[in-house]
Amino acid sequence: MDLKVKIGNQILPNPVGVASGTFGYGEEYGELIDLSKLGAIYTKAVTVLPREGNRLPRLTETPNGMINSIGLANSGVEGFLKNKVPFLNTIKSCKNIVNVAGSTEDEYVKVVEMIDHVESVWGYEINISCPNVKCGGLAFGTDPIQVERLTRVIKSKTKKPVIMKLTPNVTDITTVATACEIGGADAVSCINTVMGMKIDIHKKQPAIYQKTGGLSGPAIKPVGVAAVYRVSKKITIPVVGLGGIMNAEDAIEYFLAGASAIQVGTANFINPNAPLDILDGIKDYMKENNLNKISDFHGFID
Ligand code: DOR
Repeated sequence: MDLKVKIGNQILPNPVGVASGTFGYGEEYGELIDLSKLGAIYTKAVTVLPREGNRLPRLTETPNGMINSIGLANSGVEGFLKNKVPFLNTIKSCKNIVNVAGSTEDEYVKVVEMIDHVESVWGYEINISCPNVKCGGLAFGTDPIQVERLTRVIKSKTKKPVIMKLTPNVTDITTVATACEIGGADAVSCINTVMGMKIDIHKKQPAIYQKTGGLSGPAIKPVGVAAVYRVSKKITIPVVGLGGIMNAEDAIEYFLAGASAIQVGTANFINPNAPLDILDGIKDYMKENNLNKISDFHGFID
C-alpha cells in the first residue's frame, strides 16, 4: 500500500495532517503522540508582527462543534523563527507546513521570505480565509482576482509547495479555487471554519466577545465534503480536505469526494491520538477495499 501524496514537486509521507490552530507548533502534542507518524503538521498562523488576538471569551462549544474567534494570536515571524523553529527542526519524517496570514500582499510575502531558508519548513498553507479579523486575508479569500495575484506573487518567492486555504463563506468556492490554480498554487485546502454564532439566552448576549466566529467540528463536515467534491471536479491540483473529521469514516468520505490528503482539527482537542487512529482506520479500509493508493479513492463518485 502506498500512502504517499505528491504536492507540487514534493511528497508527503501519508495523507493525514493536523489542522492549523488545533495543534500549536507541535511541541505540546509531541509529549502525547509520536509526531513522526503524521503526514504533516499545519502550524498555527504566523503573521509579520506578534498578535494578541481578540478579546475573551473567544471560544465556545455547541452540541456539534466549536466556535472560535481567536483572531490569529501568534508571536510573529521573528518569534516563530526564534522559539518555534528549534522544535520543528527535531521532527522527523512528518512535514512542517507553515500557515501564513496577513492583511496585505506584502505581509504574506514578508513572512514567506523570512521563513523560506528554514530547511525543516516543507511548505506553506496560505490563510486567505480567517473569519475573525478585519482585513485578515478574508478580503483576499473572497475575491478571485486578488487570490490569483497573491498566489502568483507567493509562488514567485519560494520553490516550496504552496497550498491556498479556502473559506466556505463565499458564494462560489470553485471560482476561488480556480483562481488559485491559475495563479500557480500547488494545492488548495478546504474548508476553513464556517461563520457561526451562539447566543446565551439567559444573559441575552453572544457567547463570544466578537459575537460571530468560526464554526468547526462535526456540524461542518457535510459543508466540507461538498466543497471538496465541487472543487476537485473543477481543478486539477490536489485538494486537501478538512472540516469535522473526527474518525476514519469521515476521512474516507473526504477521499471519496476527491481529497488527496486530509487534516484533523477539532478532534485533536478531544483525543490527541485522533489523527493516528484515523490513519490506522484509513489503512484498514484500503486493505478491505483493495485500494492501493489514495488516488484509488477517486472516480467512484462522478
Ligand atoms: O477559524 C479560524 N480561526 N480560522 C482561521 O483561519 C484563524 C483562526 C483565528 O485565529 O481566529
